[in-house]
Amino acid sequence: MKFAPKSGSAHTLRTGCAVVAVHEPRGLSSAAAQIDQAAGGAITRLLRRGDASGKPGKVTMLHGLPGIAAERVLLVGCGAKRETSEGDYRKALTAMADALEGSGARDATCYLVEVKVTDRDSAWRIRTAVECASAARYRFDQLKSGDNKRAQRLANLGFAVASRRGFPAADKAIAVGRAIAAGVELARDLGNLPGNVCTPSYLADTARGLKKGHRNVKVTVLEQADMEKLGMGALLSVARGSRQPPKLIAIEYRGAGKEKAPHVLVGKGITFDSGGISIKPAAAMDEMKFDMCGAASVFGALRACIDLKLPLNVVGLVPSCENLPDGAANKPGDVVTSMSGQTIEVLNTDAEGRLILCDALTYAERYAPRSVIDIATLTGACVIALGSPAAGLLGNDARLVDQLLAAGTASGDRAWQLPLWDDYQDQLKSNFADMANIGGREAGTITAACFLARFTKKLRWAHLDIAGVAWRGGHHKGATGRPVPMLVQYLLDRAGA
Ligand code: BES
Ligand code: MN
Ligand code: ZN
Repeated sequence: MKFAPKSGSAHTLRTGCAVVAVHEPRGLSSAAAQIDQAAGGAITRLLRRGDASGKPGKVTMLHGLPGIAAERVLLVGCGAKRETSEGDYRKALTAMADALEGSGARDATCYLVEVKVTDRDSAWRIRTAVECASAARYRFDQLKSGDNKRAQRLANLGFAVASRRGFPAADKAIAVGRAIAAGVELARDLGNLPGNVCTPSYLADTARGLKKGHRNVKVTVLEQADMEKLGMGALLSVARGSRQPPKLIAIEYRGAGKEKAPHVLVGKGITFDSGGISIKPAAAMDEMKFDMCGAASVFGALRACIDLKLPLNVVGLVPSCENLPDGAANKPGDVVTSMSGQTIEVLNTDAEGRLILCDALTYAERYAPRSVIDIATLTGACVIALGSPAAGLLGNDARLVDQLLAAGTASGDRAWQLPLWDDYQDQLKSNFADMANIGGREAGTITAACFLARFTKKLRWAHLDIAGVAWRGGHHKGATGRPVPMLVQYLLDRAGA
């Protein structure tokens, strides 16, 4: 879909559909008022009769209003008139996108971006509109045969801007929204692909695809033999149970001078997590194809960096393999040696994410990074603690943690901090190795981060546990693309944009 700024009054603009806000209780936005006046009070009457309302997300499609140039007018409820909340604004945009998709309109002009949103400026409203509209249109039907694919008519969505003088700023906001949306889409596609398609090799090929046409992107894929030379015994111990060869994928984006230390994003890339010998129960095990959503978010964030030509150096690191039971697989009690030299007793083979991440984090040291953020569907405990509204966030650098919290708030893709106190480290004691790979039932998200902290002492590091936010189950089963918006916002902020 194409997005562009548009100027012109709501009643005279030629468009397939003019999308205007109505408020509670029976208030008109200025665009709605213009149309109402030109159409002899048609909207006021509808509101009075209760056929339309300002309830957030409530939509009413009107056709052939007299005196109006637009073929259709879509009324969208945006809540209170004085200020619309961020959540209601998103709800309204999603409802708009759904209603437009169900209509025959090929193009539309959205006046919702003129609505006042608490603490948000026009650039944010436009960028968010692009993100919401794109997300609402997203379909994953590449694995369905012809008849089951849905045709989409709407090709152009305009955003109302008061005057042409506002166009350059609006264009910028659209570009940011579009880059984030493209990153989210890539992350969702990768997440939704099944384990028999999206293997470590598939992820490596996807990384190579990212560099096409870009001379400032370099992709290196470390193979099993390379990892053996580096002594990545923890990562390789997980990979041993699978017939798919493991990959450690490095995507280096150079948007700034060589001397500038990069920001490193490390994404857990378990393309299927059966639990291994400590096998998971059968119910919903299919959802463990989403165990590479951390990796997917790294790909998505890099996609956005490349599109936006961010003046930063960013490295994406993705350790990737499957976790399956096999004669060669890790067994409970096995002791493995990580690249750092620290030994690990594998008490539960289902705590595999930390085993592949610890070696990738040690590998990250060679970039002498400004910051390292790992993103992982790491613990079921995080789903219990925070549910789907927020990712778990822990780190060894208060400023980095604060920057990520702020990026989450700004992008509407939030995280919540959990403590990484040494008090929890005792839970990882092992009688046979430097540490165990599990810390017992209590504080599972924190002890997982405590494990990783033992491999990031030389780094400014933060960890995002995205087990609760990366995908949805049930009827809406599918990847969300989170936390791409947060990561891109974090990088935009670092670039001073
Ligand atoms: N990928 C899972 C975490 C997960 C589970 C995410 C369910 C979302 C939903 C991870 O590899 C795992 O299995 N973690 C274990 C750790 C435990 C054995 C210490 C868990 O959370 O049960
Ligand atoms: Mn697991
Ligand atoms: Zn896992």
